[in-house]
Amino acid sequence: MPLVIAHRGASGYRPEHTLAGYELAARMGADYLEPDLVSTADGVLVARHEPMIGGTTDVALHPGFAARRTTRTVDGETVTDWFADDFTLAELRTLRAVERLPELRQGNTVYDGLFGVPTFEEILELRARLSRELGREIGVYPETKNPTYLAGRGLACEPTLVAVLRAHGLDRADSPVFVQSFETANLRALHDQLPVRLIQLLDATGAPADLVAAGDPRTYADLTRPAELARIAGYAAGIGPAKQLVIPPDAGPTSLVADAHAAGLLVHAYTFRNENSFLPTGLRREGRADHYGDVLAEYRAFVDAGVDGLFTDHPDTAVAALALATTR
Ligand code: G3P
Ligand code: CA
Repeated sequence: MPLVIAHRGASGYRPEHTLAGYELAARMGADYLEPDLVSTADGVLVARHEPMIGGTTDVALHPGFAARRTTRTVDGETVTDWFADDFTLAELRTLRAVERLPELRQGNTVYDGLFGVPTFEEILELRARLSRELGREIGVYPETKNPTYLAGRGLACEPTLVAVLRAHGLDRADSPVFVQSFETANLRALHDQLPVRLIQLLDATGAPADLVAAGDPRTYADLTRPAELARIAGYAAGIGPAKQLVIPPDAGPTSLVADAHAAGLLVHAYTFRNENSFLPTGLRREGRADHYGDVLAEYRAFVDAGVDGLFTDHPDTAVAALALATTR
């Protein structure tokens, strides 16, 4: 049965990257909780999808932080926003999470302002408590976000990630942990320091930021080829491809799963979401963008394609869909 990986928590039901969202995901049956990690100014790992915090916190409502809004270049893109790496943990703790997609997920907005920005350590403590309570091991699946950017700010997150996992006894090859990255160099380096399983993320477009910075012309599309998959298998346990690399919209599966398996790699595809807006046109149902489409058929197609795990915003739907798909 493929693993159910709770993408940023139970993001279909609570604002992303909140302890409430992670807890709900575990109670819905998720196998792994996925925090994306960025660094604070004082080097603490916190769960946010990107260093910019304007879209997922109420920072804009804090006049005291108005002057922190600034312009930076992240992975070649110039962005004006507030950046987590300009805030100490104590300052970040004064902020509250808000829903990223209020038009699509209006129901989540009732929780705006209720939850703080969690640290990675708090997520690990929650994971341990829920594992005991639920009687099953809840895994953790951290992603190192924008490693080249953070290293350039003098805040590389990998040493802290290793130290925190070690402090929590989660640094063994068989720990319920996967560490993921869209970049390659940090995973190669982690392979020498951290025995846990590593996952090379593969986007549908573009190229890893570390390769771009190093003048390496290889793109994500290049990394899906068998020779590159064999190289990835030298440091990673698997790949995490965008789902369209496995099954392009309204088409049949590519050879990626078979090629990855031939290289000895697991395949954990992202991101599954119930709303029409995120589904291929053939699986959308009549109605609004935020109405649910035929997501059970999408899960079934990916089970049939042989994936080993799925990142989902709706862990309960994934659990139900996988149970149905595997008892046919
Ligand atoms: O990490 C898998 C998936 O989460 C990658 O996409 O942008 O949601 O971090 P993103
Ligand atoms: Ca992620």
